[in-house]
Amino acid sequence: MTVLVTGGAGYIGSHVVRLLAERGTPCVVVDDLSTGDAARVDGAALLRLDVAQSDAVPELAETMSSHGIRAVIHFAAKKRVDESVMRPAWYYQQNVSGLANVVMAMERSGADRLVFSSSAAVYGEPADGLVPESAPALPVNPYGTTKLVGEWLVRDAVVAGVLRGALALRYFNVAGAGWDDLGDPAVLNLVTMVLERLEEGRPPLVFGTDYPTADGSCVRDFVHVLDLARAHVAALDHLADETVSGFDVLNVGTGRGASVLEVVTTLTRLAGSDQAPVVRPRRPGDPAAVVAAAGRIGDVLGWRSEAELDRTLESAVTAWRHARGGGAPG
Ligand SMILES: NC(=O)c1ccc[n+]([C@@H]2O[C@H](COP(=O)([O-])OP(=O)(O)OC[C@H]3O[C@@H](n4cnc5c(N)ncnc54)[C@H](O)[C@@H]3O)[C@@H](O)[C@H]2O)c1
Repeated sequence: MTVLVTGGAGYIGSHVVRLLAERGTPCVVVDDLSTGDAARVDGAALLRLDVAQSDAVPELAETMSSHGIRAVIHFAAKKRVDESVMRPAWYYQQNVSGLANVVMAMERSGADRLVFSSSAAVYGEPADGLVPESAPALPVNPYGTTKLVGEWLVRDAVVAGVLRGALALRYFNVAGAGWDDLGDPAVLNLVTMVLERLEEGRPPLVFGTDYPTADGSCVRDFVHVLDLARAHVAALDHLADETVSGFDVLNVGTGRGASVLEVVTTLTRLAGSDQAPVVRPRRPGDPAAVVAAAGRIGDVLGWRSEAELDRTLESAVTAWRHARGGGAPG
């Protein structure tokens, strides 16, 4: 049965679209291509539409009806924390109104199951250590708040019976590529920021080496984007069971911490560079360690992360080179 994927032309969405295509599940992609690229979903039906625009619902509902859509994965959103601080209303419009339009179109067309892209940003600055889904949701920027409000919206739609079943997946740090042509095009996270600096012949930066961690740098949870994509497929399969109903929130992470220094030195080695990292003072608001408690998703979906850190980072380097015609980042 065809699945509708909003934001399917983006970094994560295109991995899910390709995984689904490989197993014979067709997708309709709805994307305004604001940060996505149509070449990433070559072969899938693509409707170019801003899901947040005020008149999006009829076109979305018509697309869902005409393709017999029952299940939707909603990736479409803006994800820049800095931008969300500068333009909060626009972030609410893009991320919350966009989701509201999608849910309204589902209501009109009878599509009744939804997988929603949430984020570990909903936890804000959690207490150090493993973060379970039950940890307080206290986002510290508008981006994180839009994801939390999104979760509430989806939960309320389930309570109202508009949706039969829905899952919010809270991703931790996403990295790597499942295919060389599907690397992360945005330089917004540690991995791509390090690769960009190495490519420019500049040393990677490490913010703070005086944290109470093994090597003094921050510890995060890096999940391979292909593992994350498999979690979405598992979520779809779970919701396809007509006996399943309700709303749930699941962390998607490895459950293992990797230090910033470890990531930086591994990337530098993989990129064939000899740049030594430069240490800068701590950035405000960076907790020492944020790692997913990743057991629940195993219990509910039977999913667990497979890739080791090295393989995740190696795939990021290979895809980075691929996007630049084969040149070495270092
Ligand atoms: N990348 C991460 O580390 C990360 C972590 C946590 C959560 N997320 C969430 O996962 C989702 C996908 O992230 P990504 O990394 O693939 O980002 P991305 O920017 O590569 O993908 C987003 C896609 O949505 C499309 N889009 C954005 N606004 C739209 C709109 N109003 N209408 C239609 N299409 C629109 C973009 O063109 C793009 O194709 C987002 O919801 C993001 O908040 C990402």
